[in-house]
Amino acid sequence: MNLKIALLPGDGIGPEVLAQAVKCLQAVEETFNHTFAYKEAPVGAIAIDKKGTPLPESTLKLCHEADAILFGAIGDPKYDNDPDAKVRPEQGLLQLRKELGLFANIRPVLSHPTLLNKSPLKKEIISGTDFVIYRELTGGIYFGEKKLNEAGTVASDLCEYSEEEISRVAHLAFKAAKGRKKKLTLVDKANVLESSRLWRKVVTRIGESYPEVALDYLFVDNAAMQIILNPTQFDVILTENMFGDILSDEGSVISGSIGLLASASVGDENALFEPIHGSYPQAKGKDIANPIASILSAAMLLEHFGLHEEAMAVKKAVDKSLKKGMVTPDLKSKSQYGTNQVGDFIAHNIVDIEDNFNMNDENIDLGKSTII
Ligand code: IPM
Ligand code: MN
Repeated sequence: MNLKIALLPGDGIGPEVLAQAVKCLQAVEETFNHTFAYKEAPVGAIAIDKKGTPLPESTLKLCHEADAILFGAIGDPKYDNDPDAKVRPEQGLLQLRKELGLFANIRPVLSHPTLLNKSPLKKEIISGTDFVIYRELTGGIYFGEKKLNEAGTVASDLCEYSEEEISRVAHLAFKAAKGRKKKLTLVDKANVLESSRLWRKVVTRIGESYPEVALDYLFVDNAAMQIILNPTQFDVILTENMFGDILSDEGSVISGSIGLLASASVGDENALFEPIHGSYPQAKGKDIANPIASILSAAMLLEHFGLHEEAMAVKKAVDKSLKKGMVTPDLKSKSQYGTNQVGDFIAHNIVDIEDNFNMNDENIDLGKSTII
């Protein structure tokens, strides 16, 4: 398959982790005989520095022309503590989602058998967790009208949803549930919010066309509690933009590190793949950031184009790195493996998928050289 992939490394650790995902895609190209063409463009704080805007025209054009976009991370502390900043890196990502019509954000949450100890939650609670969050991505409070009075003392953000916006992401979520454990939980705040009541009405109606999927409802406050109390009860969680943002960070605690969670943002024409973590500026350039979320986002890209075997090869290679302890320090505090080494290891295992990787386990245990 030929694919044009736009690379948007962005800020902080974005470029480092994205480079590892690209290594893995190149390994897939070689092993499975595909041709992927990569073109890079700036977004976020780096684009503000270079071009005065977080989403330059040329970057948007490149994204429109590409089959898929691989995104690193966005954000810079110099904007975080400046509420008066007129331009912010995050606007680049939000505008990109909106311009490309990426209305559904898909975030799988899994507990890895080898990482049960990394989560602060009890093993017996998180073991077997396997759910996916379908987060609406181009509507709601993120994109509603924003107001600040002249005195700067009163502000508001409007949370608005149309039936159409709810129904298109709902259909995707129901279809996903059909192919999984056939359960869909709508998370809302219908006891308080009008917009949530519309979600309930529309989703309940759509549910009638998916009789094989069991539909239930949770208020978001209760859902936040249930996710850490009993995460294995979930299969597909469908929710609006901001609830999905918050619950997916919470979900990452189950997996052991936010550095593991990948996501796909899809629309009718475009698709963007990005880790759920932020730009982690403290780790920038230190070669310690976990590249796995970015690599698994590349696996979701492959999946999106029906390259299932290829996606599986990437996921298997990631599992191997977790099993062998070839991981960054967020997963093993004394680990001396850096972002690059972990990326190399995973990419190498994609190439040698049929082989038993030629590696000296004893050396790994002793914390010595890894690849022989
Ligand atoms: C995410 C991020 C973004 C969001 C930020 C960077 C705008 O937190 O993708 O979850 O809030 O959607
Ligand atoms: Mn977020």
